[in-house]
Amino acid sequence: MPSPSTQETPPYAIEAYGLTKSYGNQGRQGKRGKPAVRVLDHLDLRVAHGSVFALLGPNGAGKTTAVRILATLTTADSGTARVAGYDVVADRSAVRRAISLTGQFAAVDETQTGEENLRMMARLTGLSRPAARHRADELLERFGLTAAARRPARTYSGGMRRRLDLAAGLVGSPEPGVFFLDEPTTGLDPRSRQELWEVVRGLAERGASVLLTTQYLEEADRLADRIALLDKGSIAAEGSAADLKGRVAGHRLDLVLTSRDAYLRLTGRAVHHSPETLTLGLPTDGSAAHVRALLDEIDPAGTEIGRFTLHSATLDDVFLALTSEVPAHV
Ligand SMILES: Nc1ncnc2c1ncn2[C@@H]1O[C@H](COP(=O)(O)OP(=O)(O)OP(=O)(O)O)[C@@H](O)[C@H]1O
Ligand SMILES: [Mg+2]
Repeated sequence: MPSPSTQETPPYAIEAYGLTKSYGNQGRQGKRGKPAVRVLDHLDLRVAHGSVFALLGPNGAGKTTAVRILATLTTADSGTARVAGYDVVADRSAVRRAISLTGQFAAVDETQTGEENLRMMARLTGLSRPAARHRADELLERFGLTAAARRPARTYSGGMRRRLDLAAGLVGSPEPGVFFLDEPTTGLDPRSRQELWEVVRGLAERGASVLLTTQYLEEADRLADRIALLDKGSIAAEGSAADLKGRVAGHRLDLVLTSRDAYLRLTGRAVHHSPETLTLGLPTDGSAAHVRALLDEIDPAGTEIGRFTLHSATLDDVFLALTSEVPAHV
């Protein structure tokens, strides 16, 4: 069914279908000796309005590439994407007006002070001089940069710099509806990280949609309504933190074995391996009945398991279970 190219309320803030991108040889089969590297491989994404969506993945997974395509800084070799209802290729300038982008490639002028940067950017978004000054002051205050406002940005610590990057992304008034935050808390100290989480939550509460990338499972767990695990350029798993944890059984029973023989015999059943301590983690629902049955089945003579601990599955467990990055221990 045909749909209008612009809608009052598009069904999703961000939607991407089959995004594929290679580097080297412009993504084609190309010249001898220089194979193209496929960075995104049919990536599909949907981010609901007013939600926080975390794209979680290790270094090189393709997070920044995905953000750059969605923010119109680069184009995919194939696939389509719409942001705020606009096609990222056909309606590129409309997309740019609807988004804020901060992160690994922010455009702060190092030689200007924090205050000057924000005032200049506010002027560029069309605010009058007094309104720009007011907006800059407001953001400096919101990000704890008032004391450093008159120092050149090049003298800022990593954490201060990141906060300035974020402030720069919010400078327009009214604030944009879709935010791309590429590793917003990398390099921040724990307190600044907490403050930033509050800011992100505040954006979503006011109706903005946020796509953030992170390498921190905890961050995705704490902030995001939905999480997608990006592995080698495509989504390995997607859901709420609770959904994803549910995918690997709710709990893990860690067994400390009394011999290397026992460890090697049971290693194939484990989802977590620690050969140095002869510890294996097995999935369980955490009920006493299941734990008792597992212990009896694995060690009927009662000699091979020295100790055990039971804990809830973490997103780390999920990530390891659902991506190909499972370390081959032993
Ligand atoms: N312009 C480019 N030219 C060639 N290769 C590139 C380019 N940009 C990215 N890559 C490669 O694409 C892969 C994915 O990069 P990308 O920056 O998207 O990963 P990422 O998930 O953001 O990683 P990180 O966590 O380190 O930021 C990497 O192997 C990277 O070296
Ligand atoms: Mg990146």
